[in-house]
Amino acid sequence: MKQGKFLPPAIMSAIVVTMGLGVGLASTALADMNPPLAALGPVPVPADNPQSAAKVELGKLLFFDSRIGGDASVSCADCHAPKQGWGFNDPISRGYPGVIHWRNSQTVINSAYLAKLFWVGAAKSLEAQAPGAALGGVSGNGERDMVEARLAFIPEYVRRFNEVFGDDWPKVNNVWKAMAAFERTLIHDNTPFDKYMRGDKKALSAEQIRGLKLFQGKANCIECHNGPLLTDQKYYNLGLERAEEWSDNGMAQITFRYEQYAKGVTEKMYRKIKDDAGLYYRTKQKADMGKFRTPPLRYTAYTAPYMHNGKFFDFDEVVDFYNDGGGSNDFTDGSWAKSKTKLLKPLGLSDAEKIDLIAFLESLSGPEIKMQTPKLPPYAPLPAATN
Ligand code: HEC
Ligand code: HEC
Repeated sequence: MKQGKFLPPAIMSAIVVTMGLGVGLASTALADMNPPLAALGPVPVPADNPQSAAKVELGKLLFFDSRIGGDASVSCADCHAPKQGWGFNDPISRGYPGVIHWRNSQTVINSAYLAKLFWVGAAKSLEAQAPGAALGGVSGNGERDMVEARLAFIPEYVRRFNEVFGDDWPKVNNVWKAMAAFERTLIHDNTPFDKYMRGDKKALSAEQIRGLKLFQGKANCIECHNGPLLTDQKYYNLGLERAEEWSDNGMAQITFRYEQYAKGVTEKMYRKIKDDAGLYYRTKQKADMGKFRTPPLRYTAYTAPYMHNGKFFDFDEVVDFYNDGGGSNDFTDGSWAKSKTKLLKPLGLSDAEKIDLIAFLESLSGPEIKMQTPKLPPYAPLPAATN
């Protein structure tokens, strides 16, 4: 942000607004105007769902409770497991029993800061995201009425929903609100990087400081991984190659076909396409094929494998990929589209520079966030009618 220092704030915000509208600026000019890296601030809380200790506790129970899922066997925590970086450690996530998912499970740590959730930004808030996860066919496969009926037979939930939301009987829409409140407590803001940005110059090693310079300079990661979240929340096709598990796992292929159908693609595409077309499913624009949202980079020490298809198992593989200028796939070579970002170019990093950059990536994770599965309240028959 060198240039920003010399611009009056009004001009800077005009530039930011212009960028927000997606008006093209030459990429050399953009490089100087990326929002600066910074320590993470307080978590945003929507006015219509204020935090309270009782709500967070209720949300925690629900997050771990498989009775929200269709056959009462899958909870949020099964695919966002505290011991697996609050995600799922296979390249492609497990799915609802009998299927597997089609994408890598993302961590829920710090998701409370994101304005666009999921790999292609399909939800805009945690409250809107939770029903998609709990009710979606390949994830929770739950059903609203069934969730409400189950909760009504768990006296402790009846009591807690009444206390937190004033519900006579637990309302399913308040399930999402409580889960979101819990997720707003899953924050990772005390990493060596955050400490350094807050002024503790000893928080990063010499290697990590060199890595930070590379991140913002020669390696140009800052072009997309910027601001306090280390993401611009925009969409790019990096030319990620097909992952092995994707090709080899018949179950993932079945889910993939199902998703094509559900998302309303053309028959030709349904029959022929071999890779996840990403943002295209939302916009139906060819130029968006193969694009995915830039992910934040905090907590990534715990969340391998990486990328929407789980292609890479460690930071070495990630850095080698960027050092080669990204890759090529059906959306870069014209088979379906040519949407690869022009922002990736071979970087020419030396082995020593790669080590420094990886050391910096490691500084974006602090101590692991651990949590035991809470004791879940049991079912009980409804009390007999008294009248
Ligand atoms: C069967 C596995 C599965 C279950 C169950 C599941 N998720 Fe997910 N979750 C995923 C996968 C896979 C993704 C990425 C999917 C995509 O982008 O298409 C994801 C994405 C998310 C994200 C977005 C994070 C980001 O960086 O944008 C949040 C938040 C989330 N899940 C919360 C939940 C909550 C809350 C529940 C319970 C109601 C839940 N999930 C249940 C697998 C699951
Ligand atoms: C052109 C924008 C862009 C640039 C430049 C960029 N990234 Fe990314 N990064 C992305 C996108 C988009 C993804 C997700 C891609 C996907 O899943 O298809 C990603 C994914 C990642 C991931 C995986 C995170 C996860 O949760 O799975 C890491 C780590 C990463 N990038 C590090 C870097 C580093 C280090 C650099 C610099 C060498 C860099 N990125 C440069 C856009 C970018």
